[in-house]
Amino acid sequence: IPVEAFDMVVFGGTGDLARRRILPALYRRFVAGQVSDACRIIAAARSAMTADAFRQETAAALEGALPPPLLDRGRLAAFLDRLDYVTLEAGGETGWAALAARMRPGVVRAFYFSVAPALFGALAERLRAHGIADDDSRVVVEKPFGDDLDTARALNAVLARHFGEGQIYRIDHYLGKETVQNLMAVRFANILFEPLWNAQHVDHVQITVAESAGVAGRGAYYDRAGAMRDMVQNHMMQLLCLTAMEPPWHFSPDAVRDEKLKVIRALDPVRPVDVVRGQYLPAPGQPGYLEDVANPDSRTESFVALKVGISNWRWKGTPFYLRTGKRLRARESEIAVHFREPPHSIFDAAGQWRENVMVIRLQPNEGLNLKVMIKEPGPGGMRLVQVPLDMSFANALGAEGRDMPDAHERLIMDVIRGDQTLFMRGDEVAAAWAWTDPVIARWDAAGDRPQGYAAGSEGPQEAMWLMHRDGRRWREIRP
Ligand code: BG6
Repeated sequence: IPVEAFDMVVFGGTGDLARRRILPALYRRFVAGQVSDACRIIAAARSAMTADAFRQETAAALEGALPPPLLDRGRLAAFLDRLDYVTLEAGGETGWAALAARMRPGVVRAFYFSVAPALFGALAERLRAHGIADDDSRVVVEKPFGDDLDTARALNAVLARHFGEGQIYRIDHYLGKETVQNLMAVRFANILFEPLWNAQHVDHVQITVAESAGVAGRGAYYDRAGAMRDMVQNHMMQLLCLTAMEPPWHFSPDAVRDEKLKVIRALDPVRPVDVVRGQYLPAPGQPGYLEDVANPDSRTESFVALKVGISNWRWKGTPFYLRTGKRLRARESEIAVHFREPPHSIFDAAGQWRENVMVIRLQPNEGLNLKVMIKEPGPGGMRLVQVPLDMSFANALGAEGRDMPDAHERLIMDVIRGDQTLFMRGDEVAAAWAWTDPVIARWDAAGDRPQGYAAGSEGPQEAMWLMHRDGRRWREIRP
């Protein structure tokens, strides 16, 4: 079903995010028939460039980002026809009148701030001053949304001066991932899991977002951020919230975001003994973290593991262990819910019992895996064995080989539809920073170095200890 007609202005439209994510996502939705001929995408950036030159650049960017079968000439030409370009100075007056003249009445207006956060204020102010944005317009921003509580609050305030919270779409692309949304479907569209989803029945939860790539190429940004700011404050926090939150009364923006916020507020402060950070070491033929960021003194972490407590009625006593890192053994993300032992065993099968585990695989091979105990076949008496009930979403839906929509595709269409359910609210972002800040402040004050870990490993030894001392083990990260 096509979305409403829109004018989408992409500030920073010649930048990396636009080329790699935004324009390819819009093109894919165009091919899917959701972006009608009545839609227009206007890139606005500083370079003096004609609309034709921008179309050519975009064609090259799409060829770099998308599989060739998607890019047949007719469709590509039709999409490029929807594009326009305005040379504009975010902090000056150049181009604003030209942009105002391009906007059409009676269509949805969305403004994608694909620029440094320092420019948000200037853009918001000029959009209003020139009458380009109105009370129905939408503003889209991406992470990093601040780098601590103060800067996040300042950004919220700058945007709030010109736009209502209901107009601001803060993207966390993890919320656009199919399986992340599936987490809500699995939890709240089934009777099976929710009654067990609490401290009484869940021993602990493990959330892993492992990446095999390093940070080469984006060292300047990454070295100032580190894993805690880059992944934990946002993506991992969202996964934690969706796993731990109470059922919202309805699948709608504030109902869902209220519940996530309650989880963040209930997080215990992280104790120093409950966090481990690491930096990947060089491997033969492969630079280590310090070389990748060209900073031999860097104290920034490329890996972090945490034990997190939630002080509320549902979760008190059930730890959530989180870990994320670069240059690990494989690219693998999952949420694993480890259930407790049955209260009593009727079998004389001591030592054979293994816990029930429900694993939601986010990537790759999105799916659900439930580990259950059954009887081992054969006449040897009642011997127990753990087997997986394993389902790949693609397989179960007969969608193997079919392209799953990318996170940005879903989220950009939600902006046009005016649905904020999968976007972060200002108070949610601030609360996440309020929890993250003290951990980072402690590292800064201590000035010590993260533990080195071998490239291609599962992270530093200390991270293993975080689990072992509680009598638990991380799940293996498998290539
Ligand atoms: C980004 C981080 O937000 O998410 C990157 O800045 C990280 O460092 C990326 O690699 C991971 O996203 P995905 O979709 O590849 O899991």
